[in-house]
Amino acid sequence: MKRNIPALLFVLAAAAPAAHAQKTDGDLNETQLHGRQVFAQSCGVCHLSPSLGSKTFGPPLNKASAAGNDEVMRAIIVNGTERMPAFKYYLKPAEIDAIISYVRSVPAQVVRAANEKGESR
Ligand code: HEC
Repeated sequence: MKRNIPALLFVLAAAAPAAHAQKTDGDLNETQLHGRQVFAQSCGVCHLSPSLGSKTFGPPLNKASAAGNDEVMRAIIVNGTERMPAFKYYLKPAEIDAIISYVRSVPAQVVRAANEKGESR
């Protein structure tokens, strides 16, 4: 599988320019890389800034999101909220798992520091 990673990274780079502010690839495993790709495609429109410092419709997501609880995060993704669509008909359970695994790899303090610069919604 190792030899597929450069191809995957190429796809990620092409499909997900909005992911530039996210972690470097080095320490993500394959599941997390896949999760990042699905996240950029399905969630990025609301959860990733198109440019550094610009506001997003949804909160930035990281390790601490959904109270740090994977089951709570899964429920939010599956069922949606008042302002967020449900993804149960669009994403497979394995894709949701991969997204959660990726989001849990994003350090919380980086995002908090960005928020303290005036992010509000
Ligand atoms: C249409 C915009 C939109 C899309 C698309 C979207 N979200 Fe959200 N999301 C939101 C908003 C807005 C909130 C804040 C909760 C609220 O106001 O209802 C939120 C909240 C969340 C939360 C809870 C954060 C917390 O700590 O309370 C998680 C987790 C989440 N979204 C994950 C995702 C994932 C994963 C996807 C893609 C599968 C996704 N969202 C797609 C708008 C969106």
